[in-house]
Amino acid sequence: MPDTSAVQQRIQALTERLHHLNHQYYQLDVSEVSDQEFDQLLAELQGLEAEYPDLALPNSPTRRVGGTITKQFPTAVHRYPMLSLGNTYSEDDLREFDERVQRGLEGAPYAYVCELKIDGVAMSLRYEHGQLVQGVTRGDGTRGDVVTANVRTIRTLPLALRPDPDPDQPQDLEVRGEVFMPLPVFAELNAEREQNGEPLLANPRNAASGALKLQDSTQVAARKLRFYAYSLLTPGRHFTSHSAALEALSRYGLPVSDTWRRAANISEVLDFVHYWAKKRFDLPVATDGIVIKVDNLRQQDQLGYTAKSPRWAIAYKYPAEAARTRLNEVIYNVGRTGAVTPVALLTPVPLAGTVVKRATLHNANQIGLLDLRLGDLVYVEKGGEIIPKITGVDLAARPAEAVPISYPTECPACGTPLVRPEGEAHFRCPNERGCRPQLKARLEHYVSRRALNIDGLGAETVGRFFDLGLVATPADIYDLPTRRAELVTLERLGEKSIDNLLAGIAASKQVPFPRVLFGLGIRYVGETVAQKLAAHYRSAEALMSASAEEMAAVPEVGGVIALAAAQWFQQPENRELLERLHRAGVQLAVTGEAPVPASDRLAGLTFVLSGVFEQHSRDELQQLITSNGGKITGSISKKLSYLVAGDNMGPAKREKALSFKVPIISEAELLALLPTAEEPSAPEAVAAAGPGSQGELFG
Ligand code: IVH
Repeated sequence: MPDTSAVQQRIQALTERLHHLNHQYYQLDVSEVSDQEFDQLLAELQGLEAEYPDLALPNSPTRRVGGTITKQFPTAVHRYPMLSLGNTYSEDDLREFDERVQRGLEGAPYAYVCELKIDGVAMSLRYEHGQLVQGVTRGDGTRGDVVTANVRTIRTLPLALRPDPDPDQPQDLEVRGEVFMPLPVFAELNAEREQNGEPLLANPRNAASGALKLQDSTQVAARKLRFYAYSLLTPGRHFTSHSAALEALSRYGLPVSDTWRRAANISEVLDFVHYWAKKRFDLPVATDGIVIKVDNLRQQDQLGYTAKSPRWAIAYKYPAEAARTRLNEVIYNVGRTGAVTPVALLTPVPLAGTVVKRATLHNANQIGLLDLRLGDLVYVEKGGEIIPKITGVDLAARPAEAVPISYPTECPACGTPLVRPEGEAHFRCPNERGCRPQLKARLEHYVSRRALNIDGLGAETVGRFFDLGLVATPADIYDLPTRRAELVTLERLGEKSIDNLLAGIAASKQVPFPRVLFGLGIRYVGETVAQKLAAHYRSAEALMSASAEEMAAVPEVGGVIALAAAQWFQQPENRELLERLHRAGVQLAVTGEAPVPASDRLAGLTFVLSGVFEQHSRDELQQLITSNGGKITGSISKKLSYLVAGDNMGPAKREKALSFKVPIISEAELLALLPTAEEPSAPEAVAAAGPGSQGELFG
């Protein structure tokens, strides 16, 4: 009789660790370990449980598919459970998989379909009578969150299926696929977060899953999520093969990545695996492997399922690309908001398709956590395949002369003592007015594409003008036309580019106020907040007289943001800046009539929109509801405030609403809940009550 107590302890430890990691991953969007490490731990536990079935714990993480559901959304039970795939990191395992398939099919001929494994969030979509009616996350595999309003924001997703010449087109079907954030969108989002001093998202998967969990679908829309379909489920059999189903999905108008291929045998599968090992880095989506599926659906049935995953499919995962290299120096960047970010300078090393020379260290904590020293050999990985990060130190190879890193106490650019506000990870240089990298970064932000988007005056040129002392603040940009003679003498800037640049500056005076407000670079005021503040207050003048308390009452504007914004508008230098921008003709107010003023009139209320509406499109109604503080949800529950009924609303919805005693209102009744354009909207009310007069400033 072997001593099983050690095994028992190991099983216990693995179970606890895996439960913890699952929770972190699915609930908190935190990946403490790489997928590979996770899979290794899981495999070890599976091995032990197979060998000692009596010792397996009843709630073992090997017995369920993953995740649990969050509380915020209504949930729905999947018609067919959403299983996961067996994972492997080795080609030998793929060959063994092929042998199992061969045995299972008893010598019959078979083929595979190979697809890229997109690193996003699994989603189940229901189409009824050709209309998208529901989107549900995987959740725990049996039951997931209903996030219909959020998936509807995915632009490439058809809300109605395209009719197919095939007379047999199934009208009720379930499409499964992956919701993901394209890499350029992810990069942009993180750049914005960095500028706003917010914590960075670790990878596009976390970004996509975080976006899907947002309660306000207009915010979800701003995250520009995308979807790739990879399977089609219909009651009854419509297709003989998976490849035919993929082709049908494309015909119906669903986005299917065109990277999939049929493979006649395992060696063609391996060719596919090898082909994409490097090529995948050229794609605008994050991929973490290849999914291999037996093509014939009858053969899939024949092979069947284990408790967790199909026997007819497997995922091959590429190892996380890591490299070992020397840490030579740490430099400190000062950002637009004064945040100091340490950057590691490395001996260049090839990694995942590029040569890595730098890696971000995020903040001082991380240097301490990793116990980094100058001269160390460090491991670099690409987080979400783009931003390289240092994940560890080869302690065994630490040179005796390795030097501990001493974090600066003064700003590396201007020498001002750094401060670290309570609860923040970053040290900051408080010298907003005099610290050159901050001034320069603010100018770069002002001219950037999503702010004033000045043609012919990019970050590089404005940076050069700053270095030459031609501009120091955004207002100085508008004095450039008077310095034309000086500008044309500059190297690499001919008459033509100067004319172009001056035309761009003139055109930027037409850029709408919300983007100007964003361009001012107020801490925490990203695009969304700028839009909300602009819609509410309608002018810089009104913002100048708003208190932090008042601003915090605007939907989406929290206390921290409001405080930063209100302080910004109170500072004399900023008021002077606004005054000069105003004189130059920059838009510092919303032009035109507000169709319906934004308010918080619907705060705390949730709405379901159903059917077709007369006066406004569904998108417009959603916009109206959310800009007045209301929320949109996808399904009817007891907690719903109103069901807004349009024409052709489904009878099931009506019945459900009646049974929950949810009031059903018309489009007109909804509009009656909103403030009208003539009513003094909140901004005027605030301005009237606000301290002091703004007339003297902008007159
Ligand atoms: S097929 C029975 N195909 O990978 C499972 N999954 O564990 C059917 N994934 O979270 C899944 N790309 O969302 C399949 N081309 C693809 C995929 C894919 C990504 C995800 C899937 C699931 C995980 C598999």
